[in-house]
Amino acid sequence: MVAFRQFNQAGTIVLITSEGELVKVLVVGSGGREHALAWKLLQSERIQEVICVPGNGGTALLPRCQNLALSVTDFEGMSRFALVNNIGLIVVGPEVPLAAGITDYLQAQNLTVFGPTQAGAQIESSKAWAKALMQDAKIPTAAAEVFTSLDAAIAYVKQQPLPIVVKADGLAAGKGVTVAATVEAAIEAITAAFAGQFGEAGSQVVIEECLMGEEVSVLAITDGLTIRPLLPAQDHKRIGEGDTGANTGGMGAYAPAPLITPALMDRIQQEILEPTLAALRQREIDYRGVLYAGLMITPEGDPKVIEFNCRFGDPETQVVLPLLETPLDVVLLACAQQRLDQLPPLAWKSGAAVCVVIAAQGYPENYQKGLAISGLEQAERSGAMVFHAGTRLKQQLVTDGGRVLGVTAVSDALPAALKQVYGATDCIQFEGMYYRRDIGHRALPQLQE
Ligand code: AMP
Ligand code: GLY
Repeated sequence: MVAFRQFNQAGTIVLITSEGELVKVLVVGSGGREHALAWKLLQSERIQEVICVPGNGGTALLPRCQNLALSVTDFEGMSRFALVNNIGLIVVGPEVPLAAGITDYLQAQNLTVFGPTQAGAQIESSKAWAKALMQDAKIPTAAAEVFTSLDAAIAYVKQQPLPIVVKADGLAAGKGVTVAATVEAAIEAITAAFAGQFGEAGSQVVIEECLMGEEVSVLAITDGLTIRPLLPAQDHKRIGEGDTGANTGGMGAYAPAPLITPALMDRIQQEILEPTLAALRQREIDYRGVLYAGLMITPEGDPKVIEFNCRFGDPETQVVLPLLETPLDVVLLACAQQRLDQLPPLAWKSGAAVCVVIAAQGYPENYQKGLAISGLEQAERSGAMVFHAGTRLKQQLVTDGGRVLGVTAVSDALPAALKQVYGATDCIQFEGMYYRRDIGHRALPQLQE
């Protein structure tokens, strides 16, 4: 049996084993992704308890799970709690604490963390840094130039074919990207970024070629030496049916995405995942966590990187984890402890999973919070799972975010999963709730091919 030693604050040795012993896990974040992580971890017989920082109404209601009211950037508070409570693993959900160096801080206290260091998180927190890495390592991606001056950026877009993509360099909560159909729209986006619309994130701007094709998310887990893809998923980023309207954090997802054949996944592994990990290592980055490749599959069938994220996707996680058969703690601990090569291939359930996000009226712009939610028991009685994205448990369950719930169903095939998920969404009510009725429909013709 492989054993790993840690010292807690009192100087006591705590033994965490890859088999057998019960582990307490701390999950950092408060969205649907973190609810799904906590739910999946608790299915493992080795997991005694999950603590979510700060969690949401869904994690508050989950048996053997409790919320800890700390901010996701309160590294000191989390570290103190983890050391005193013998936390065996810390899983970081969102990009903000990763980019702020949570992993570096906690690792320095001898804690075991799933999530890259601040240096590794640059793959998401700086689009210019990620682009330079891809260009050095010859990873297929959109051609791009980086600008630190407004005039030079404007002069450049005037000479480029349209549409063209303008990106603020840093983290901008999903709002920093403009796909501009006209030069005027591109100039407006560049001007807004340099004027500080995204704060520091817009002090550099990446201008890149617009890729055509179909988007897919390949989340891969890595321990810094070995990298393995999870099942491919497809997200639905636009608010409106038929992929229209404003960009959102994601209105629904399904997995596996039939667009990614085994042969194409092999190419993604060889042409994108392996060389990216090698390029990270070359920069002396020991990357242990999720490398999320947002890909465009071009009309010629070639995979190209749109962007990398340094974490699990939301809502992709809500469809990928329900299909995973290997206990999640085993997978995440193997990454955090750098022994992923010793793990047998990941086991997956056959069939398909789909997640429909129910949003508050007005999202992704302004929306109200605190609205009473009902019908979740009926929805779950029909066999669906309801992951909470923005809820809070007061006297009763109320809305607390733009994306409120992620209703998820697993079945032996996508059409059956869709039927089940939409049966469940029909049971749920809160004032002004909105969801897309066409989640997963893009895959249906592909399944018939
Ligand atoms: P992001 O906020 O980085 O996830 O980007 C938002 C969306 O912008 C992506 O999901 C794509 O739909 C689109 N996008 C970003 N870069 C490109 C590109 N080079 N070509 C086409 N679409 C892009
Ligand atoms: N679903 C998109 C993201 O997690 O960034």
